[in-house]
Amino acid sequence: MENRDRGLFITFEGGEGAGKTSQITRLSDRLSKLGHSVTVTREPGGTPGAEIMRHVLLSGVGEQFGPEMEAMLFSAARHDHVNNVIQPALEKGDIVLCDRFIDSTRVYQGGSGKVDMNFLHVLEDLACEDCLPDLTLLLDMDPKEGMRRAKARRGVDEKPDRFEKEALAAQEKRREGFLSVAKNETRIRIIDASGTFEAVEKRIWKDVKSVMSKKGISVR
Ligand code: TYD
Repeated sequence: MENRDRGLFITFEGGEGAGKTSQITRLSDRLSKLGHSVTVTREPGGTPGAEIMRHVLLSGVGEQFGPEMEAMLFSAARHDHVNNVIQPALEKGDIVLCDRFIDSTRVYQGGSGKVDMNFLHVLEDLACEDCLPDLTLLLDMDPKEGMRRAKARRGVDEKPDRFEKEALAAQEKRREGFLSVAKNETRIRIIDASGTFEAVEKRIWKDVKSVMSKKGISVR
């Protein structure tokens, strides 16, 4: 892979209801207004092949094969996505904003306790080679608030049922997982995702601006 020093690769991570999608739209609009060419994409997915894998993984069809196989499927989708969307966009100098990437695999598949971290690192190398994020924004929020927001978005106003309670415990575990991954990675910035959209947007812009300046990319 050549010319990796061109462009800028930013990934967004976090739990349910943290507002990744809205913040990606806001950042993309801001960068476009400043004259940058922006590619917005997501995982799993982003290419026709990876979207098929998205369907297999999110429908639950992949679950029967176990977490190692699921991790391999996420990584196969990632390989296609990196080669056909992310890397070409970076080579032409785009700023790439990607909704979820390797840290989701570390937390969701790695957090099951059934997949060895070394195995995940091998998969990362195969899927990404040297195409790693310059910056990862971890939108951190109390899972109770995140799930409340996700529910409000769905227009539901009920007490959590048994499954939603289980989901809350899982979200709490994932939050810890993301925070623990962040401890070992200087590219990850923890963003307080509570408060208004505008407040969170401001926090994100501060970190994005700083990385852009370091890479010599114009911020005005
Ligand atoms: P999506 O509907 O895009 O959810 P969200 O709005 O929460 O980002 O679904 C993506 C789901 O896939 C999400 O539950 C996290 C999961 N996932 C993994 O388990 N491993 C991965 O490597 C990735 C990229 C996503």
